[in-house]
Amino acid sequence: MKKVISRIISAGLIFCMVGAMAGCSKSEETTKATTKATTTAGESQTDSQADSQAETTAAEKFTLQDGKLIMATNAYFQPYEYYEGDKIVGIDAEIAEAIAKKLGLELQIMDVEFDSIVAGVQSKKYDFGMAGMTVTEDRKESVNFSSTYATGIQAVIVKEDSPIKDVDALLAGDYKVGVQTGTTGDIYMSSSPDDGGVGEDRVVRYSKGGDAVLALAAGKIDAVVIDNEPAKSFVEANEGLKVMETPYAVEDYAMAINKENTVLLEKINAALKELTDDGTIPAIIEKYIPSKG
Ligand code: ARG
Repeated sequence: MKKVISRIISAGLIFCMVGAMAGCSKSEETTKATTKATTTAGESQTDSQADSQAETTAAEKFTLQDGKLIMATNAYFQPYEYYEGDKIVGIDAEIAEAIAKKLGLELQIMDVEFDSIVAGVQSKKYDFGMAGMTVTEDRKESVNFSSTYATGIQAVIVKEDSPIKDVDALLAGDYKVGVQTGTTGDIYMSSSPDDGGVGEDRVVRYSKGGDAVLALAAGKIDAVVIDNEPAKSFVEANEGLKVMETPYAVEDYAMAINKENTVLLEKINAALKELTDDGTIPAIIEKYIPSKG
């Protein structure tokens, strides 16, 4: 696992460099955050707006823009986030909407590259990231995670007539595996065979999971490793593919929040708890992933 960990750590450093505008010097940022949390990323704000915000108390400033809650996602990930017309819907979108409502904020969803979400949360471009995102030790170096609201499973998609019968066969053979860039599927598969991956040389990265699936359908690659629920919906939409019976890994999904914004973290966790206890979140999940029987 060592190799994976070092790669993950260097990715963290890159995030740090990308986020240089917001500063990786923690102490300086912390001071700024407590006094002026909502205005640090308010590129579109005027000075007078910023000034009037500065008068409100620090406790009220837990989002980047007044009255708004800005979420970053990657909306090609049914049933968690996907387009219905020009609207982003799905489990994450609905849970986020319910949280925003509870906090009295207007939710704004930004559709971005998956592998830019953590960096964008860290550099205060977005209030939080929610994208069927798995809690990993590596990401925890860069962001805080809320409580878990769902479980994910890394699954393998192959062609119906594929000679690859199980995960071991996939790892052992000389097969090319497609993944979405920066996802846990990518991280696992890119690790060496000793660490349960297939190694960099056999991994083909795509910016959208759907593009990996299209490449599989076109015979350009031999398998796709992606989260189970999107895997099922991709298979439904593309003939001749199937999800392998054996899952690859089980994971927890949570929302990623800037490390300095503990107020938002607490508010989101409190909202998640209330929305779980009152049945709202279970109902949203059941709506998109009906339990059988
Ligand atoms: N669960 C995986 C991860 O966190 C994949 C998430 C991809 N999400 C998306 N909206 N495209 O790495």
